[in-house]
Amino acid sequence: MRFILSLLLTLGLQAVSTEVNPLGKKWESNKNCEACHQYFSKKWETSRHSHAHYNKNDLFKKSLDYIVRKNPTLVLDEVKVECAQCHNPRLAKRDVSNEEKVALLFGDKETKTHFRNLLDNKTMENGINCMVCHNIDKIHMDKIKADKGGMYGVTFGPLGTMYGPFADSHSPYHKSERRDHFATNEPTLCFVCHYGKKNKYGLWVYETGKEYERYAERPDEGCKECHMSKKRKGYASNYAPPGDTPKERMIRQHRFASVDNSNILLDYVDIKGKTEDSGAFSISLTNRAPHKVPTGYGLRQVILKVTFMDRNDKPIKSIRYVLGAEWLDAQGNVTIPHLATKIGKDTRLEGKTTKVYKFKVPQNATYVKYGFSYRLIDEKLAKEMGVSDPFFLREYTFFEQRLHL
Ligand code: HEC
Ligand code: HEC
Ligand code: HEC
Ligand code: HEC
Ligand code: HEC
Repeated sequence: MRFILSLLLTLGLQAVSTEVNPLGKKWESNKNCEACHQYFSKKWETSRHSHAHYNKNDLFKKSLDYIVRKNPTLVLDEVKVECAQCHNPRLAKRDVSNEEKVALLFGDKETKTHFRNLLDNKTMENGINCMVCHNIDKIHMDKIKADKGGMYGVTFGPLGTMYGPFADSHSPYHKSERRDHFATNEPTLCFVCHYGKKNKYGLWVYETGKEYERYAERPDEGCKECHMSKKRKGYASNYAPPGDTPKERMIRQHRFASVDNSNILLDYVDIKGKTEDSGAFSISLTNRAPHKVPTGYGLRQVILKVTFMDRNDKPIKSIRYVLGAEWLDAQGNVTIPHLATKIGKDTRLEGKTTKVYKFKVPQNATYVKYGFSYRLIDEKLAKEMGVSDPFFLREYTFFEQRLHL
């Protein structure tokens, strides 16, 4: 009797757990893949894709709070479900009904627990993980271009089928099938979430894909060469059946390079300072990326720093020039991209361009120090939102050079 009772209880619990987490225990996180795909799993863990859930990302968490603070009719979990389209596309929920909203507003315990189980389970906290990308069977570019990206722009395949670049791979853990969106250089897979999206006021944010259509030199320039790696010899899996050895293949690093986990800015943005014939000091920036710099999340900043010094190396003048965009609400106040109705001042550098910035040299200047740095979010807005994780408050310096004038 006790056995049957506990069996019923376990079955009951399992029914609840697949309802809130459709991936179940076997596919819930990168840890399910790590034993056989260590190389990919470890690198992926260093990427922002592994921090796409608000429990692992202070800026995302504070953005959600900020949106609700500015729109008191919204309920936090409702906004979380909306943002999950791209930040957690395996979420088992697409819409929040009016009844659920009311229940959440009045703090109904059962509804609250249900939403916690849906939104905060192990799969969700694992972010844009292996099963988000490698279970994508079809991508619908027409929907994505019509502002229906993320979970609405894809068809996931059956659990247990892994899509990838190879037509001849065999795994004891899962089925494998080849798909073009892994095998070719086309940016289709990345466009699922990085193409662009209208915010609730109809303003496009995260326009990396739209920028790419404007600036890319070839349609198949793609994103992988720069943000993963060039193809290199290696193994798709460190596992091989007993008596066999892994097959050598051409693979890519899963680093999804960003400014904080790589040198991508130095590798593809060239900076050169010189004294002009006119006597001015100039910095030329060449952006070799097929998108703006900075791109994507709208509050990123690249900062040009110039300090002139006298002959005793004493600073006489410092200048900071910010490449970034200003997002304005209906009243014209600075806000976050998700709440903006228009873009104000916009000094982002266009893709595939060189731009020269000129600075007047003060009298008595003998040396100049110049370089650039990067901020993940504008300092003032970070303060207003209450962002506290030093990771987001730091200024990442990439380049510094000294020149005799
Ligand atoms: C028991 C070991 C094992 C586990 C666990 C495992 N895989 Fe694999 N996987 C393999 C092997 C072996 C291959 C084939 C390698 C080859 O052919 O070079 C493979 C191939 C792949 C491929 C390439 C498919 C293709 O056709 O291009 C992908 C993608 C993949 N696995 C993803 C995953 C993900 C995601 C997980 C976790 C949910 C996972 N694997 C778990 C062993 C495993
Ligand atoms: C399912 C949605 C999704 C897909 C598909 C996707 N990304 Fe992302 N990506 C995100 C989200 C969401 C973030 C932000 C995570 C965070 O920081 O919270 C992100 C972050 C990044 C970052 C870091 C950005 C930064 O500002 O630090 C890079 C680089 C990146 N993605 C590149 C890629 C590339 C290249 C591809 C295609 C191979 C790709 N992504 C596919 C959703 C996606
Ligand atoms: C943002 C999407 C994305 C995520 C997340 C992702 N991959 Fe991949 N993966 C790709 C792409 C794109 C390729 C094809 C790379 C190429 O051009 O060879 C790939 C290829 C692979 C391959 C085949 C070898 C290769 O490099 O081509 C394996 C194995 C693999 N991924 C495993 C994993 C595992 C394990 C995880 C989780 C730790 C993971 N991937 C997470 C996009 C992703
Ligand atoms: C020629 C190299 C190159 C290619 C190709 C490229 N990027 Fe980038 N990407 C960069 C550089 C350099 C940066 C850092 C500067 C910045 O933030 O704009 C960057 C930054 C990003 C960021 C913001 C990361 C951060 O740290 O803030 C995202 C998101 C991104 N790229 C996505 C993409 C997508 C999606 C594609 C393909 C459609 C792509 N990139 C193609 C070079 C490249
Ligand atoms: C269309 C897909 C999509 C939707 C919907 C979406 N995001 Fe994002 N989000 C992204 C991508 C892609 C990135 C990475 C771009 C980059 O960093 O340049 C990102 C990055 C961010 C970042 C920066 C994170 C970091 O680590 O620096 C914040 C904050 C953020 N999103 C908040 C939100 C909020 C709040 C919502 C809901 C109102 C939301 N997002 C909805 C795609 C989306």
